[in-house]
Amino acid sequence: VTPDPGAIDRELLIAEATRVLGQNWRGTYTVPAGGLYPHQWSWDSAFIAIGLRHVSPRRAQQEVESLFGAQWDDGRLPQIAFAPGRDDQYSPGPSFWHSERIAGSPATSTAGLIQPPNHAWAALLVHEADPVESERRRFLERAYPRLVAWHEYLRARRAEPSGLLAAVHPWETGMDNSPAWDGPLARVDGSFDGVIPRPDLEHAASSERPSDEEYSTYLYLAARYRDHACDDSGESTPFRVVDPGMNALWVRSEIALARIAELLDDSSAADRHRADSRVLASALESLWDDDLTFPVPVDALTGERLRFRSVSGLLTLLVPGSPRAEQVIDTLRSEHFGLGTTAMVPSSDLTADTFDPAQYWRGPSWFNTAWMIAVALEERGHVAEARALSTGVQALALGSGFAEYVDPFSGEPRGTRRFSWTAALALDLASRDAAGLR
Ligand code: SER
Repeated sequence: VTPDPGAIDRELLIAEATRVLGQNWRGTYTVPAGGLYPHQWSWDSAFIAIGLRHVSPRRAQQEVESLFGAQWDDGRLPQIAFAPGRDDQYSPGPSFWHSERIAGSPATSTAGLIQPPNHAWAALLVHEADPVESERRRFLERAYPRLVAWHEYLRARRAEPSGLLAAVHPWETGMDNSPAWDGPLARVDGSFDGVIPRPDLEHAASSERPSDEEYSTYLYLAARYRDHACDDSGESTPFRVVDPGMNALWVRSEIALARIAELLDDSSAADRHRADSRVLASALESLWDDDLTFPVPVDALTGERLRFRSVSGLLTLLVPGSPRAEQVIDTLRSEHFGLGTTAMVPSSDLTADTFDPAQYWRGPSWFNTAWMIAVALEERGHVAEARALSTGVQALALGSGFAEYVDPFSGEPRGTRRFSWTAALALDLASRDAAGLR
């Protein structure tokens, strides 16, 4: 299922993707999807900005700035910034979190959890799309202190002794029901007391969404974290995992902060960010598992390695100079991820017992991870494979109606449709191709 690059109608793709982003635009930010996700999501917005920069650099800047409006005093960028009046359309919503009752929360209503830190990377790409417009709006000057505070939150409140950041909820990893979390979730002794609202199932098939059992634990964990004022103490969570993908994005964003500091003529800050990124990159090596020859998450509460090949480990390819990158790429090509033989890259090991081609992060191929892997392969000189993957992303995005995720074998759409980051990242690849930038 490697589509022919010549067969993609790039003009049509760019026009259709732009239309999706226009439909999902809410004046200052973009919802991930009109029905299923009716608020602003953190890492979604960063990916969306990467696509929007080709349509309107100013809108791309606003997308990121809008999320900064939801930043907490401690620097955290929340997983979700809630739109007023849509409480019953998504669970858990503003009346679950009651963020206004928590000290240090912003004026706008938000979730208390976080998502992977891809924001500084996105901010730099947005700037580079139109440096003149960026300078005119003083975009980097205003974004930089926000991004520094965000990374400071991760360092002060989330870093383990290794220096790597820990997630306190599966939602924070962005890969909610990845089989990697099955073990740590099974040890969580608690479930949500009450009816489990599932408005999500009005917009996507239950066979393609996390189960009620999973949701019961998700809501229990979120309520407990909230009831401890989102303070990141040991009591606030019985779930704490160190995820390779989240940390790889942190490294990538720390490197982007160095570049942003340089553009702002602060060379000592740039040196500091670069040094920080090197410390993180070398700590990331501790996630390497010799048996699987692959980076795996660690349960920070038990120290146990969560020996599972998830697409998250492939995201370590985004870290420049990573010494084991070629081994990671070998695994990408192997029966576990089947690069070139499946549609894009599956979210989970194709050979695992848990593999399910329809179930959210337990098998389907997602467009954001494929985009990141295509970018990393290109940077590493695996140009033919990068372009084949990029072509796959573009063809499947258009062919699936901008699905949230697809079956890795058939490319059949799964989850919701007209999904913003699918449109944005396919648009990014198509625009790069059109500009001959690749
Ligand atoms: N991925 C979550 C959901 O499905 C939100 O972050 O609702």
